[in-house]
Amino acid sequence: MSTIKACIFDLDGVIVDTAVYHYKAWKRLANELGFDFTEEDNEKLKGVSRTRSLELILQWGDVSKTDAEKEALATRKNNWYVEMISHMTPEEVLPGAREFLESCINAGIKTALGSASKNSVTILEKTAIAHFFNVVIDGNKVSKPKPDPEVFLKGAQALNVAPAVCVVFEDAIAGVQAALAGGMKVVGIGSPQVLAGAHLVLSGLDKMSLEKLNNL
Ligand code: BG6
Ligand code: MG
Repeated sequence: MSTIKACIFDLDGVIVDTAVYHYKAWKRLANELGFDFTEEDNEKLKGVSRTRSLELILQWGDVSKTDAEKEALATRKNNWYVEMISHMTPEEVLPGAREFLESCINAGIKTALGSASKNSVTILEKTAIAHFFNVVIDGNKVSKPKPDPEVFLKGAQALNVAPAVCVVFEDAIAGVQAALAGGMKVVGIGSPQVLAGAHLVLSGLDKMSLEKLNNL
């Protein structure tokens, strides 16, 4: 029997590939401002809040803006992003995500979403996966962004389980750090070089199983 009682999933880059849409929208904004940033830089934006992402991008382009201008730029990026996610379909759920969520539910393991995004509800609805989550904690419910553990601790609390029996699934360095800071186990989704510190790193949820969960 597993001692793991709950799985908490990041959304962007773990359940759906919206990381690509975020990248496209930020890149378009940077290009409009007259500069570009690399895919390597983009790693630093994963899991990071919208406001903090903009701060980093402006820093990379050596561009300074007033608070009002920053708000307008973040809204501009979000409008492009919202337009892109409005066309999402259930086919965009990443391989193995639905199956692993189902096996957790069948095994009596509770599930939560733990995302920095303020657009998570739209994505869950468009891809028809909202019913897989007992609890949704997202950017509308937290005040301290990852790597602070708040989002995952609130998830564990809402599920009524101790952090030590939770496993977090994350594609972002900031998210791996947040899970560790919260005293949870963490499975990295992506590259082992990028996600150092995770208890296990897999290329996707299609490589995950209840057996691996029990062996963490
Ligand atoms: C995270 C993404 O899930 O959500 C980040 O990894 C993104 O790239 C953040 O900036 C906030 O998302 P949103 O949808 O509220 O702009
Ligand atoms: Mg992510």
